[in-house]
Amino acid sequence: MWKKDEAMDKLIIEGGNRLQGKVAVSGGKNSTLAAMAAACLAPDVTVLENVPRCKDVFTLSEILQALGVRVEFEGQGRLVIDARELSTHVAPYELCRHMRASFYTAGLLLGRLGRAEVPLPGGCSIGSRPVDFHIRGFQALGAKVVTEHGYVKARVQKRRLQGTVFYVPRSSVGTTINLMMAASTASGTTVLQNAAREPEVVDTAVLLTAMGAKIRGAGTPTIVIEGVRKLHGAHYAVIPDRLEAGTYLIAGAITQGDVLVEGLIPEHITALLTKLEEAGIEITVDGEGVRARGRGELRAVDIDTAPYPGFPTDLHPPFAALMTVAKGTSTIRETIFESRFGYVDELRRMGANIRVEKDTAIITGVEYLTGAPVEAVDIRAGAAVVLAGLVARGKTEITNLENLDRGYENLVDKLKALGAKVERV
Ligand code: UD1
Repeated sequence: MWKKDEAMDKLIIEGGNRLQGKVAVSGGKNSTLAAMAAACLAPDVTVLENVPRCKDVFTLSEILQALGVRVEFEGQGRLVIDARELSTHVAPYELCRHMRASFYTAGLLLGRLGRAEVPLPGGCSIGSRPVDFHIRGFQALGAKVVTEHGYVKARVQKRRLQGTVFYVPRSSVGTTINLMMAASTASGTTVLQNAAREPEVVDTAVLLTAMGAKIRGAGTPTIVIEGVRKLHGAHYAVIPDRLEAGTYLIAGAITQGDVLVEGLIPEHITALLTKLEEAGIEITVDGEGVRARGRGELRAVDIDTAPYPGFPTDLHPPFAALMTVAKGTSTIRETIFESRFGYVDELRRMGANIRVEKDTAIITGVEYLTGAPVEAVDIRAGAAVVLAGLVARGKTEITNLENLDRGYENLVDKLKALGAKVERV
């Protein structure tokens, strides 16, 4: 479990080592969070494999436990979820306020109990992250929803939610997953149009299907869910973490090293691989995984973040770190979250030349970065300063590690195994 006193920890990185070797990718953090909520739709036991031990997973475990679910880690990466006794429809504020994905309990509780009271969620401060799309979706499914005293309170009007046709605004990932869960046990058929196509959506659909749900079209913009009366438990392995995998490939690239990331699904990060190649990194994909090898040059490239299969917004800050030491000027236009730029001030402290104009970071590569005291202001901004620290001259001291712990399993051990000089103190 993650302990509160770890919040005072620091990560010390002595930059300059070329990273070399193999690193195995962990199970997908975002996929796991959705899977944990989906598992609880069945009054049964579900076993999830490949679950990463990171703080967000522990927090959601505690939230589910507060609802009456038994959640237990068993050995390496196996999470046993016994939702037979789930009976509480109110999710605890103290835990939910820290994590956006806590709002998946709304779809779960509506689908399972017909009632949900869930706090307006927190999460990374990467922009205003309202839940209005989710609420509109629940209403379309026939729930009565009010927001009062910081809680979203939803209740089915008839005995169950009612199938509907709903256009998902901005192809929101969270909305698509929440509605897919809620609609799984609705009466009648639900059609989600403009659904998100992210691998995490497909993964949740595959799990729900293993639990007895009738879902087709996940991975396309139109998902059709035929409601069933009841779901049952399943045994399921979540997909590898494409964002963690991307971070380690960038670690190989930024240090002009040679890193093989094992166990990922290369098709999940095609957009990143294309951009790394464009930047001058040699990418090889084979049965073992994906290898990123520096060839002594790093060129500036331009990026627009976009919904899947476009360039993921979560890899914007790590890629920006890479561009701080590339030759030339690159632009990264953020189209998903308006405040993804928390990393900018931190990288500037390390000597990066970045300015932000509206939704775009303009980065001119410098000859070298210098180590400095910096903060992990959110999960991916945290990854950006770690990456910069790996290549900076001297010592980088990173605080607010809680944010890195939320999304990266065994970060220090994995970096050390690749030859980085890094300590947690
Ligand atoms: C998920 C991921 C996050 C990733 C993001 C986009 C998890 C736990 N998080 O976040 O890492 O960066 O997908 O791939 O899986 N929006 C609204 N109203 C809503 C819902 C969303 O305005 O009710 C907006 C958001 O502010 C954002 C956009 O829609 O601008 C897309 O957000 P969404 O896809 O829902 O992201 P999350 O599911 O929160």
